[in-house]
Amino acid sequence: MELDVFTLFPDWFDWFSSQRHVANALAAGSSLQALDLREHTPLSGAQVDDMPFGGGAGMVLRVDVVEAALRARYELDPVQLREQRRVIALAPGGRLLDDSLVDELAREPALTLLCGRYEGFDERIIEHFCSDTVSIGRYVLAGGELAAMVVCDAVLRKLPGALGDERSAHEESFSEALDGNPEYPHYTRPAEHRGWGVPEVLLSGHHARIEQWRRERSRERGEQARAGE
Ligand code: 6GU
Repeated sequence: MELDVFTLFPDWFDWFSSQRHVANALAAGSSLQALDLREHTPLSGAQVDDMPFGGGAGMVLRVDVVEAALRARYELDPVQLREQRRVIALAPGGRLLDDSLVDELAREPALTLLCGRYEGFDERIIEHFCSDTVSIGRYVLAGGELAAMVVCDAVLRKLPGALGDERSAHEESFSEALDGNPEYPHYTRPAEHRGWGVPEVLLSGHHARIEQWRRERSRERGEQARAGE
């Protein structure tokens, strides 16, 4: 997987890239590059944003700046680029990220993520250069960087080699293996702490019963979450 993130804060991704499962995925052949939107701006003073037409608060990321950054990286008209790879704008109003979208993205050979700041993107960036817009939830962050890290985190840990134990990604919360339900509860040693025990079945060594107990708890949690508890 080739991940390119266009951002005004490329150094934020240094810390992210050093996280264990990210580093593992990178060692296993993926790449994560943070590209600076200011580096190729055609404007003076490293300007990248401007006041919104029609007035209003905040600044808007300019379409010419994003075009220059994409052209410098891919040597291609960005209008054609999106025919060749997913180009995703991170914006609070976009398609909500969930496990099935993460799976879909993890199957791509390459992703380009665009991080907006301030009030967001000139709409022409989204209309002409992007294949998708993605949001990580219905709240507003100051910029797309944290959302981009969420997308990269969720996608990279799905790739072979990112996790120590491949089963962890198969039977995890919201996966098909659990019918889209959250994961069942886990327990580890000590078997008793302040009188708080562990469900007997987990100590029984009876694999079929353990399996059945876990499915039931997972289904229960899904029902509770859907009921808004
Ligand atoms: Cl993708 N961007 C911003 N700025 N805020 C968000 C978001 C994205 N997703 C949720 N809130």
